[in-house]
Amino acid sequence: MSAEDLFAAASAAMQNAYAPYSRFPVGAAVKTEAGAIHAGCNIENASYPEGWCAETTALGHLVMAGGGRVTEIAVVAEKMPKIMPCGGCRQRLAEFVTDDACLHLCDTNGVLETVPFSAVFPRGFSFEDGK
Ligand code: THU
Repeated sequence: MSAEDLFAAASAAMQNAYAPYSRFPVGAAVKTEAGAIHAGCNIENASYPEGWCAETTALGHLVMAGGGRVTEIAVVAEKMPKIMPCGGCRQRLAEFVTDDACLHLCDTNGVLETVPFSAVFPRGFSFEDGK
C-alpha cells in the first residue's frame, strides 16, 4: 500500500507547526474510507498545557469537512524518526478509525514502517462493547 500522498500531506502540515516552545514541529494526516485526506500540525501556547498535537488538528479538519472513518494515519516529526502518537491522540484517533486502520511511521523522507492501529492502542476506552 503506497502512502506517499498521506505522507506528503503530513509533511506539508508540519511546515505550518506552531511550536515556538518545544521547537518540535509535528505533522499528521488521516485518510478516510472515501479517500479524503485531512492534515494538521501541533499548535502550542504560552500556557504550555493548552497546546495540542498535530493529530488533534487533523481530526478537527476531518470533522469540519463532514467526518468519515479513518483508514490510514501518517505522523512525521523532523526531529524524531518514527514518532508515535501520544496516548491522548491514540484515544482521539480510536474514535474515528476503522477496525483495520493502519498507522504509518515516518521520517522526513517517507514512510519507514506501517503498523495496525489496533496494535498500538488495544482496549482503549469506548462505550461500545468489544471495540
Ligand atoms: N506532539 C504532537 O504533535 N504529536 C505527537 O504525537 C507527540 C507530540 C507535539 C506536542 C508538542 O507541541 C510537541 O510535539 C512536543 O511534545
